[in-house]
Amino acid sequence: MRKKVSIIGAGNVGASTAQLIAQAGFADVVLFDIAEGIPQGKALDIAEACPLWSSTASVKGTNSYADTRDSDIVVIAAGFPRKPNMSRDDLLHANADVVKAASNAIAKTSPDAIVIVVTNPMDVMAQLAWKTTEFSCRRVMGMGGILDASRLRAFLAWELNVSPEDIEAIVLGGHGDQMVPLPRVTTVKGVPITELMGKKTIESLIQRTRNGGAEIVSLLKSGSAYYAPAAAVSQMVKSILFDEKRMLPCAAYLNGEYGIKDVYVGVPVILGKEGVEKVIEIKLTKEEKTQFKESCASVRKLIKKLSI
Ligand code: NAI
Ligand code: 2OP
Repeated sequence: MRKKVSIIGAGNVGASTAQLIAQAGFADVVLFDIAEGIPQGKALDIAEACPLWSSTASVKGTNSYADTRDSDIVVIAAGFPRKPNMSRDDLLHANADVVKAASNAIAKTSPDAIVIVVTNPMDVMAQLAWKTTEFSCRRVMGMGGILDASRLRAFLAWELNVSPEDIEAIVLGGHGDQMVPLPRVTTVKGVPITELMGKKTIESLIQRTRNGGAEIVSLLKSGSAYYAPAAAVSQMVKSILFDEKRMLPCAAYLNGEYGIKDVYVGVPVILGKEGVEKVIEIKLTKEEKTQFKESCASVRKLIKKLSI
């Protein structure tokens, strides 16, 4: 039987993710939203493109969680982007309510699903989804590091005039201003970028990566990035559905790894059919360790605010 992927939130990220999964024919897709007509309309549009993509995936839009029943994977991309008069705290509480409601519904309708959280602040929302669903931490994770690493890869490829495909990058920590890109282990076909470009250029590209989400928001004026985020989610979905065991930076629950306990934060993991099959611990320099700890502390601060 074909696998089933449900996407909660038929906004920009959710619908783009649905498109990528349907286009590739990875799985049947259910697109859920509370807004009436939106998931149905977008799903119908995507379904009507399937013949052109030679895809036999079914795509259904719905306002009922019953249609998401027994999903193999559920992506939570529902929520609100930050509006001009909204503080980060306002956003935190508004999106926490959305993620809580989605997680409660998922636990009831798809008790064996693997959950990928996208909604911001993502690391905190992943922790909330894990607590609310009461699923094993292997089955709940967040998307952030792949997106941040992909942005860095793109900037490096433009600077070095090489194919982005040949660039490997790892970004650790929370998906936010305090992310921790690791130039030391960022390579072009195994050659560290530190051997290919000067410190100042690397620093400026890292700064652009940290600011990557905001750069797009300031260009779009309303709303935030969705093409690259959807591509990142789709890569996670593929690695899980096809048991590829890719090593990808995702928000995962740390239980002592990196000397950190009881917090979801971005680390390299092996993604396979069981979900997060392993957290990969890479040796960090003293400076990297300090940055990583600071990043974890900022995620923990928000977790405390929500009393998760
Ligand atoms: P959007 O505003 O285009 O879509 C959000 C959708 O969620 C809307 O269709 C809305 O009706 C729906 N929604 C609201 N409450 C809901 C509920 N209780 N149940 C189901 N659906 C509900 O936003 P966009 O651009 O798709 O972003 C979604 C979230 O993902 C935001 O929180 C954004 O910050 C986050 N994001 C995270 C990224 C990451 O790297 N982790 C990257 C890009 C976006
Ligand atoms: C981004 O990095 C908004 O988290 C989103 O583009």
